[in-house]
Amino acid sequence: MLRRALCLGLLSVCIALGQDPDAIRETQANASGADAGKRQFQQTCGFCHGPDARGASGPDLIRSPLVSRDQNGNLIGPVIRNGRPEKGMPAFQLSDAEIRNIADFLHAEAKVAASVAQRIPSEYPLEKLLVGNAGDGKAFFDGAGHCTACHSAAGDFAHIASKYKPFDLQTRIAFPSGAKSNVTVTDASGKMFEGEETYADEFFVSLRDKNGHVFSWSRQSVKVQIRDPLREHERLLKTYTDKNVHDLFAYLETLK
Ligand code: HEC
Ligand code: HEC
Repeated sequence: MLRRALCLGLLSVCIALGQDPDAIRETQANASGADAGKRQFQQTCGFCHGPDARGASGPDLIRSPLVSRDQNGNLIGPVIRNGRPEKGMPAFQLSDAEIRNIADFLHAEAKVAASVAQRIPSEYPLEKLLVGNAGDGKAFFDGAGHCTACHSAAGDFAHIASKYKPFDLQTRIAFPSGAKSNVTVTDASGKMFEGEETYADEFFVSLRDKNGHVFSWSRQSVKVQIRDPLREHERLLKTYTDKNVHDLFAYLETLK
């Protein structure tokens, strides 16, 4: 599902750029390597570096100079295979293909992060930020953008333009933050618990239920499902064009 969406996103970019079909096929081949790499990464590396490689107890790999200098795993591979045991990075014996896929995934993530960052000018007066069309932004928000699946102009986004400075608002379209993951835990007796994540690593998980009670478990003894509400928002981001982002911003700026 996720993969199809990503390929479709890339495809429309490819077509928009007028690239030839071979280039599109190659992009898709890379996308599927990156996809396998993503699964491998999330299983093997995610609990230290974060599922999206943006850092947790281990460093952010998207902004790592080593990763940015890497080509097809030539620098990432030795770190994976030797580890840095004295610094908390264990060694993993992965195949060349697995390392290459992980490298493809990290480079693809870095590219997305860079292209998003480029779209957001840092110190800009509002008139210059407002290059989009608010009407088109509203149409996208209510329609093709599927924003109303989770947001509403009269609800959580009422007065959003008064809440944030223009630059912060534009940044938040691309990098929202603050949402807590939702956790479901099924214990050995089959009893289910649900609530907001308060802590999770490879050994422990804990949640706060709707009555405010906090429960913790050793992960070995229970089944855990964690849903990050920002995952879908992030996925959508990859499908926006520059015009979509500008238009959305112009529209949200009208919600004073
Ligand atoms: C148990 C936690 C842990 C796991 C699992 C883990 N790492 Fe690390 N990783 C670290 C820590 C901590 C560092 C920082 C080491 C240092 O300070 O030199 C690191 C460093 C790195 C670096 C070097 C970054 C840089 O800029 O120098 C890369 C690349 C890396 N890890 C990739 C991976 C990959 C790929 C996997 C999965 C195959 C993985 N790591 C699994 C903890 C982990
Ligand atoms: C599947 C659900 C989902 C969809 C669809 C979605 N978002 Fe979000 N969005 C979120 C979540 C969750 C947050 C984090 C909310 C929070 O921090 O309280 C968020 C945060 C935001 C924020 C920051 C709000 C703030 O107060 O910090 C903006 C702006 C935003 N989204 C815009 C959009 C736009 C524009 C679209 C459509 C193109 C969209 N979102 C589609 C889930 C979604």
